[in-house]
Amino acid sequence: MLRWRRIASVAEFDLLWPLLADAVGRADAERQASLRDRYLDLPDHRLYAVDDAGSGIGVIGVRMQGGAPHEGEIVHIAVRRDCRGKGYGRLILQGLAELESSVETWTAETDDDALGFYQALGFRTEDLGERYPGVRRYRCSLQAK
Ligand SMILES: CC(C)(COP(=O)(O)OP(=O)(O)OC[C@H]1O[C@@H](n2cnc3c(N)ncnc32)[C@H](O)[C@@H]1OP(=O)(O)O)[C@@H](O)C(=O)NCCC(=O)NCCS
Repeated sequence: MLRWRRIASVAEFDLLWPLLADAVGRADAERQASLRDRYLDLPDHRLYAVDDAGSGIGVIGVRMQGGAPHEGEIVHIAVRRDCRGKGYGRLILQGLAELESSVETWTAETDDDALGFYQALGFRTEDLGERYPGVRRYRCSLQAK
């Protein structure tokens, strides 16, 4: 059974950073500081650490968009490298849907590396084209209700 912990302090964020950095394109100190501010200060942003049997296995960051229908954006998701391919990513997204049960539509933007993950989980995907040289981006969306 996975245990969820919302990250609420600088110390917690910095401990989690090596894991979160795997889901961040340019993972330098400047980016760490800007994401720290974003997740700790912006009321619509939430960052969760996910543990299994006391061991940290993943992280997920979301942005909740108000209004109706409620929309939630998966901004970052990473599973610890030695835990990948074992179903944790799927469990994290299922757990997120339970935790944030008001969300009717989940969205995410991703690249070729994680596209198959979102497709395997039933997300519809739309090709946004080459946003940066050599980097194709996709918008993914899933109707939760
Ligand atoms: C993407 C990521 C979160 C997936 O986590 P995971 O625990 O390995 O995924 P799961 O084991 O739960 O896989 C669930 C399904 O997705 C598929 N899948 C997972 N990663 C995939 C990938 N990169 N490409 C294609 N399919 C993938 C699995 O085969 C599985 O399908 P199945 O249930 O039909 O067999 C993980 O690989 C990761 O942390 N990557 C680095 C960070 C990243 O790229 N984040 C996403 C962009 S921000």
